[in-house]
Amino acid sequence: MNPVIEARNLRFSYDSGFQALRGVDFRLDPGQSMALLGPNGSGKTTFLLHLNGVLQGEGELRVCGLPVEPRHFVAIRRKVGLLFQDPEDQLFLPSILEDVCFGPLQCGLPPSEAEARARKVLHQVGVLDGWDRPPYHLSGGEKQRVALAGILAVEPEILILDEPTTHLDPPARRLLLELLQSLPQAKLVVTHDTAFARALCAHAAFFEGGRVQAQGSTEEIVARFHWEI
Ligand SMILES: Nc1ncnc2c1ncn2[C@@H]1O[C@H](COP(=O)(O)OP(=O)(O)O)[C@@H](O)[C@H]1O
Ligand SMILES: [Mg+2]
Repeated sequence: MNPVIEARNLRFSYDSGFQALRGVDFRLDPGQSMALLGPNGSGKTTFLLHLNGVLQGEGELRVCGLPVEPRHFVAIRRKVGLLFQDPEDQLFLPSILEDVCFGPLQCGLPPSEAEARARKVLHQVGVLDGWDRPPYHLSGGEKQRVALAGILAVEPEILILDEPTTHLDPPARRLLLELLQSLPQAKLVVTHDTAFARALCAHAAFFEGGRVQAQGSTEEIVARFHWEI
């Protein structure tokens, strides 16, 4: 089975000279849900930003079999749906519906099809009405679900989420968990929420010092690194 993400000896330094990735080896298989655990500042977000070419390091990185290089960015960005930690970074159009239509329109879908897709995914994430409202009036959990709808509207093969439960209250967190469990895509989820990681992800990787120290079952990784409150 070909991996959907494969990194070998991936290295990256910020302009400041700080080396945030120090030889990342990582693999994600189709349909797998993987939690990315590890301390603050260990390079998790930096790694995620490589997966759709926002940052480019040295070494080998393939997503859905394609090397992550400028000539494949358009194709890769359709395959990888990246949900940022703060949904405010992702919502920028005057209405919910326009926001969710943006991705499919960018992909070249005619407006009527883009809107049909947007309606479908908004139902899927549980935002059932009020689609002409501006996204900035929504609650944190609703904003996140609209941002997720915008990603799902492009029908990605991989979903990548950076600390998705940080701003959620327990009911919103439960809703997000159930939603993600119902989605067939391969998932990579950075989280400090061990219970969330356990419930969603059979597998985990532990990031430390700009490297993946180990990959295994979530139970194994949590126990080995004493990664629990
Ligand atoms: N834009 C930047 N410029 C310089 N250093 C950065 C930048 N962004 C992150 N870093 C540094 O890179 C390291 C890894 O950061 P990050 O990938 O955000 O870690 P994590 O997501 O695991 O908390 C940290 O030491 C952080 O301070
Ligand atoms: Mg981070």
